[in-house]
Amino acid sequence: MLGLQKKGTFTHMSFITSPAFAEKGYVILDSYDQAGDPKEWLDLEFVDWKSSGVTRFAPLASAFGEMECNGFWNHTPPRTDKDGVWVQANVDVAPILKARAEEPGANIGRCRVIELQPNDYTNAIYNLHQDDNNRLNPEGTGWIVRGFFNLSDDPSSVLILREDRFDPDTEVRIPLPAGAQVIVDTQRFWHAVWQVGPEPRYCLITSWESGPELDAYIEKYHGASNNVNPPLDARVIEDAQAEVRRRLAERSATLVAQGKKLADPVDPEA
Ligand SMILES: [Fe+2]
Repeated sequence: MLGLQKKGTFTHMSFITSPAFAEKGYVILDSYDQAGDPKEWLDLEFVDWKSSGVTRFAPLASAFGEMECNGFWNHTPPRTDKDGVWVQANVDVAPILKARAEEPGANIGRCRVIELQPNDYTNAIYNLHQDDNNRLNPEGTGWIVRGFFNLSDDPSSVLILREDRFDPDTEVRIPLPAGAQVIVDTQRFWHAVWQVGPEPRYCLITSWESGPELDAYIEKYHGASNNVNPPLDARVIEDAQAEVRRRLAERSATLVAQGKKLADPVDPEA
């Protein structure tokens, strides 16, 4: 049980990991000059995919190069989140996004652009989940982490990370202006985005295998973990905590009435 709850602490031991993640579990790279690029993401083909919040995804790399977003472990044969196959129709219109995913030279698994409709802090907290990036990943190989490159300009929005799902004191809030580049151990953190809006957020998300290539890339772009949380009223946090607990209790009661049990959320980005 402890191993399951603390998978971040235990399972990492037998994988290759980046020292840059050792302490904080995320790194923020130099900002990218997003305004200098065409908005390729607006030309991509998006598919409906139920994730945390109201989302669509445009796959750039999928398990077999198809226009779909399922976790690689849900395919036949199931496999881990590596060796993604480029989705031709989408990379044809997004060569710069593909090049950015390829720049580290690390193995790429799932690679997609997410479109997230505006939400609020409470919904973001309700949507917190851990990714399942390392399912079936063989020990002794690189731990899968994920890059988040913000494409739209959402300076008031934040990527929320929590070491403990229900403890706001563990919360990290990383602002998301255009060009923000963050790499996160999303299997370690409970995470979700609070998109203030009013426009949807677009972000390039790439699964990378940890190793010397990714380490060199992080170093080249001065990866650092010294984020300072933008202020958020304590009352807003308290209210969200209470509301999320209320919603979870309500859902649990509904499930109990059906003879079922409330389980932790599964990776909604699978
Ligand atoms: Fe996720």
